[in-house]
Amino acid sequence: MSLEAEIARRRTFAIISHPDAGKTTLTEKLLLFGGAIQTAGAVKSNKIRKYATSDFMEIERQRGISVATSVMAFDYKGVHMTLLDTPGHKDFAEDTYRTLTAVDSVVLVVDAANGVEEQTERLMEVCRMRDTPVMIFINKMDREGKDPFYLMEELEKKLNIRVQPLTWPIGMGRRFKGVYNLKKRELNLYAPNKTRIADDIFTLRDLKHPLLDEKLGEDAAHRLREDVELIEGVYGAFSPEPYLKGELAPLFFGSALNNFGVQELLDVFVEIAPPPQPRWTEQRLVLPTEPRLTGFVFKIHANLDPRHRDRIAFFRVCSGKFERGKFYYHVRLGQELRFSNPTSFMAQQKSVIDEAWPGEVVGLYDTGNFKIGDTLTEGEELRFKGIPSFSPEIFKELTNLDPLRTKQLDKGIRQLTDEGVAQLFYLQPGQRKIVGTVGELQFEVLQYRLEHEYGARCRFVPLPIYKAVWISCSDSKSFERFSRAKAGQIATDKEGRPVFLAPSAWMLQQAEQDYPEIRFHKTSEF
Ligand code: G4P
Repeated sequence: MSLEAEIARRRTFAIISHPDAGKTTLTEKLLLFGGAIQTAGAVKSNKIRKYATSDFMEIERQRGISVATSVMAFDYKGVHMTLLDTPGHKDFAEDTYRTLTAVDSVVLVVDAANGVEEQTERLMEVCRMRDTPVMIFINKMDREGKDPFYLMEELEKKLNIRVQPLTWPIGMGRRFKGVYNLKKRELNLYAPNKTRIADDIFTLRDLKHPLLDEKLGEDAAHRLREDVELIEGVYGAFSPEPYLKGELAPLFFGSALNNFGVQELLDVFVEIAPPPQPRWTEQRLVLPTEPRLTGFVFKIHANLDPRHRDRIAFFRVCSGKFERGKFYYHVRLGQELRFSNPTSFMAQQKSVIDEAWPGEVVGLYDTGNFKIGDTLTEGEELRFKGIPSFSPEIFKELTNLDPLRTKQLDKGIRQLTDEGVAQLFYLQPGQRKIVGTVGELQFEVLQYRLEHEYGARCRFVPLPIYKAVWISCSDSKSFERFSRAKAGQIATDKEGRPVFLAPSAWMLQQAEQDYPEIRFHKTSEF
């Protein structure tokens, strides 16, 4: 098959949700459809626990398992799907944000009863930042939830995106009777836990048909006719263009647990979701059809076995063909590297692969060469954009409890922050190490891993910092003036870029007002 044909039949996406909305359950149902797993429960039993815990075995377990389910590849109707998992726990949100840089589209799961929740909003903000096409699955229609019209309004308002329903629910909770496929004009009747689909699907070109009253009862049939008339009047025919531009989200209703309404989503997904897209580097736009390999590392995971400190780097192929054993250029290091055991994640089994195409994710065994955001090419100096670090929200100073192991601690904290577990800043004088994270859980993970993987004991001392924001300024005099005024609050990140450690929201705002010539950035990419 040609490179173009390989690209055209690939879809790389992520499912995102506020914890508990049903991401794991939906993932499992998609894998069932794709034949990647045979029984329900396979993903579930591996489920990453969502609640903060001090149980370190649990943290270890989570890390191990998330390697296994981080990337799930399966085929559906001749389309090769790569589904990237995102952790549900909010303390790992940054991991999720970075994973979103490696996908071409997203499925957002929303709980019909809870509507838009905090995590939903934040995740959508990240999608909106890069105009990632999004489909929305309103889950748990088998439970009492919010009115679908109300939900649509809430989605549009809070997520700042237009929505267009492609299926429409008939009742909900105990009155839930099924969904009407607005696109195909089909009625899919609800039976809890159904495993077969075809038997209960009726094609109804004409909603006035008495069959509708017979199947749904008069009241529900009447309401459906009204709803559909209203929706068709407002939205008209569906066209994929605004979806592909990230301006409109197709909307589906169903129940992941009961495997209901999922196939409708999947069928539309394989039909309209974008294949691997062009991607910007700092130098130029890279097209997936270019014959030479390019790609970037979006995630690094330490292996479970602490005796071998090797890691897996998750590499997204952006153009060309990745081949086993071939030398590739590691742009940041300026070195040629070759990979003798690249792995794929088909059906959750890690197996060595010989080649990979744009959109696919390859697992590269790494002994410390990779950092998140690293680019591989066939010689060209390119650096992919769009792998930002976000302002952390919790800050602690790392103090060494064992001076004889200083070197190990330094190495450990550098390597772990390369994995994106947390961000490291240096504060002068004394090269103090300030660690910033988006959640408390990361400090526990760090402390545990520093001790068990690097033999370094440490303590984290909380600091009264509100936010770390990157700063830039074209005028060196103004910059100096600001640095002098804020001495003790200016640190550098690992790349040596200056960062303002704002003690409070008010002081950050004040600084923005007092120093208009300084630019303050909430992500490291500007
Ligand atoms: P998450 O990955 O987004 O965190 O959500 P997950 O799929 O784990 O689902 C969270 C809970 O919601 C689970 O129940 C799951 O069974 C339930 N759920 C998912 N989809 C549906 C649905 O369509 N209808 C209903 N009624 N429930 C649904 P749990 O009690 O937390 O877990 P479990 O004991 O079932 O494993």
